[in-house]
Amino acid sequence: MGSYVDSLTSSSSPASLATSSPLTTPEPSDDGFEIDGTPSPLVVTNPTGDNGNQENCPNDEFILVIGGLGYIGSHTVLELLREGHNVLVVDNLSNSYENVMHNIRILTASHCKQKGVPVPLLHFHRLDYRSRSMRLLLETYSNLVMEIDASGQQTMTYRSRIAGVIHFAAHKSVVESITTPLQYYQNNVCGLVSLLQMLEKYGIYNFIFSSSATVYGAKANEGLPLREQDLVHHPEQHIDQAGHSIALQPSVTGLSSPYARTKYFAEAILADVAAANPAWRIVALRYFNPVGCDPSGFLGESPRGEATNLYPVLTQVLTGTRPRLDVFGSDWATRDGTAIRDFIHVLDVARGHISALAWNERAEGQGSSFRTFNLGSGNGTTVLEAVQSLEAVAGRKIPIRWTGRRPGDVGSCVASTERARAELGWSPRENIVQCAADLWNFVRKAGLDSMIKV
Ligand SMILES: NC(=O)c1ccc[n+]([C@@H]2O[C@H](COP(=O)([O-])OP(=O)(O)OC[C@H]3O[C@@H](n4cnc5c(N)ncnc54)[C@H](O)[C@@H]3O)[C@@H](O)[C@H]2O)c1
Repeated sequence: MGSYVDSLTSSSSPASLATSSPLTTPEPSDDGFEIDGTPSPLVVTNPTGDNGNQENCPNDEFILVIGGLGYIGSHTVLELLREGHNVLVVDNLSNSYENVMHNIRILTASHCKQKGVPVPLLHFHRLDYRSRSMRLLLETYSNLVMEIDASGQQTMTYRSRIAGVIHFAAHKSVVESITTPLQYYQNNVCGLVSLLQMLEKYGIYNFIFSSSATVYGAKANEGLPLREQDLVHHPEQHIDQAGHSIALQPSVTGLSSPYARTKYFAEAILADVAAANPAWRIVALRYFNPVGCDPSGFLGESPRGEATNLYPVLTQVLTGTRPRLDVFGSDWATRDGTAIRDFIHVLDVARGHISALAWNERAEGQGSSFRTFNLGSGNGTTVLEAVQSLEAVAGRKIPIRWTGRRPGDVGSCVASTERARAELGWSPRENIVQCAADLWNFVRKAGLDSMIKV
């Protein structure tokens, strides 16, 4: 059976935290599991709008986080719990480990104890979000409601206790997507379509999607901060800073991998869905380069697959898993010749999701909504500066091998953060120094620093 439901307890101490090394082995996705959730009570509503006791029970509601045990998902789950939300996690552990649940639970309990606040609920279901069991899960978290209209006609309908969905689950390796594109389209696009159909059925319309800066394609080659209006999915009127109205048309070039296309297609689907049904409130968050981890050092990035992002590769070089860092290109038009990226602390990314959920709630009842937001720091860091940031906290040199530019790479990719600041009220709190310090703390807590070859 692939599920368990667990409430957080405040009795555990942080000392019992598990480091995020692999503790469990994944089993094949199981579609025949049983859901241990609360049975759906029957609620009766009448035309006066009195919905029984449900509206008096805000703590009855959950945020569903799909892919919630992965790198960004786990930090977002932790932030949601710290903010007092009940969380329902769905993850098939294809790129994560179950001990992450344990650590989230303990860190939350410790936080709540310190603040003297009640501990929210945390439920976990080990489940492929594309499996038929998802329907059963959504049903479990719904109340069956009898509606009586003015003529006395009775109809049965579901009212979900899921107040919002954050969808992280996807395959994410650019390189792998080139060799197994169907696997990527199946998980990242087909899965999304079925999920949206199911959510509609259960009346769940508050949706946050994990997108990526990769959707900007060749726009990144222009070397300017990337703005959300650089990629739209439907014609839009945009008012620029000088007050001029600009007609934006959907158009993209230079999507360089099947992975990039899955994110682009997913956004386009979400924009169409929101345009067709005004009940939806959908935000696509375009992440730049999430790095770092929770300062406790007990939550970080522990993928099952091969690490491909710069910082995880750097830590692997430091801990001896890789001999050196390959730097692709030393002749970019940047301050030290290496490529510039926009690194953003994963906790800032996590907080962006909470701002997006609130944005959706504010947008409720205001017609159809689909909105994109960049989550980046707005600052560019060169590859060499990133290397130096980790060398400084680890007190070691990182060996480098200079190689040529890779096809499809761009010299600079930095976010404009204007829209997220203005509309979400979100701004990054951490900088690259903090990212490196937190990441190194995670490596040390996992005992990996003792593997360093001097
Ligand atoms: N990490 C980055 O640099 C980055 C940048 C831009 C966008 N993104 C996007 O953000 C999201 C999260 O990224 P991440 O770095 O946390 O990835 P991750 O691989 O660490 O997390 C994804 C989680 O989803 C789970 N999952 C995958 N397919 C699933 C399925 N079918 N059913 C249930 N669970 C499934 C995995 O087990 C994993 O726990 C992804 O959609 C990714 O494409 C990530």
